[in-house]
Amino acid sequence: MKRTPEPEELMDEADQALAYAEADFSASNELFVELFAQVQGNEFKGRMLDLGCGPADIPLRFARRYPQARIDALDGAPAMLELAGQAIANEHLESRIQLHCQYLPATNLQREYDAVVSNSLLHHLKDPLDLWRSIGACILPGGRVLVMDLLRPESPEQADALVAEYAQDAPEVLRRDFHASLHAAYTLDEIREQLRASGLAHLETAQVSDRHLAVSGQMP
Ligand SMILES: C[S@@+](CC[C@H](N)C(=O)[O-])C[C@H]1O[C@@H](n2cnc3c(N)ncnc32)[C@H](O)[C@@H]1O
Repeated sequence: MKRTPEPEELMDEADQALAYAEADFSASNELFVELFAQVQGNEFKGRMLDLGCGPADIPLRFARRYPQARIDALDGAPAMLELAGQAIANEHLESRIQLHCQYLPATNLQREYDAVVSNSLLHHLKDPLDLWRSIGACILPGGRVLVMDLLRPESPEQADALVAEYAQDAPEVLRRDFHASLHAAYTLDEIREQLRASGLAHLETAQVSDRHLAVSGQMP
């Protein structure tokens, strides 16, 4: 199926952000944390950056799992960050998770992170290389990388079937976004080409569920 870019990069409509924050992504978000543990192991004491953090469910999962981790979580949508701030405050984790309202590509990222992670951002970006360049700019030598995203289905019918399977009872705004995201997602071959073009070809790529792919590994 030919790729159709997302109509909007940021998820900054209030109802859209709220529907996303209230949806149950626990299975895929827990898969994300498990995939990171496969790359990193059960200890992580350093600084982590989450690019496109949305409502911060993933930074919260990392903060619980790795009590010594310090996490910067970046998103360009104030509506999402408002919800992220509330979720972090509810768990009193403000001292360990710092939110940053920032649009990628960003020019002020410093090379200071022991791990850079991102879930479901890549297919939103106008230029996918912005994600890979941002990672390359801010990760320390030896740092761990994990990027997970949707995998573009082979046909519109397969995309419809995934929406029916995973979002049947979801609010209409979520069904719309999930459908658009499946059409905007990349294939594994396209992502391998992006990695080659950004000097990150050593990272591993794999399909990790019926609708997700992951890119993971360690910097030299
Ligand atoms: C599908 S959500 C994923 C949120 C979160 N990572 C998760 O897994 O729950 C994508 C997020 O990326 C953000 N985003 C999209 N384009 C962006 C850009 N160019 N710069 C910063 N954030 C962006 C959106 O606002 C949205 O919050």
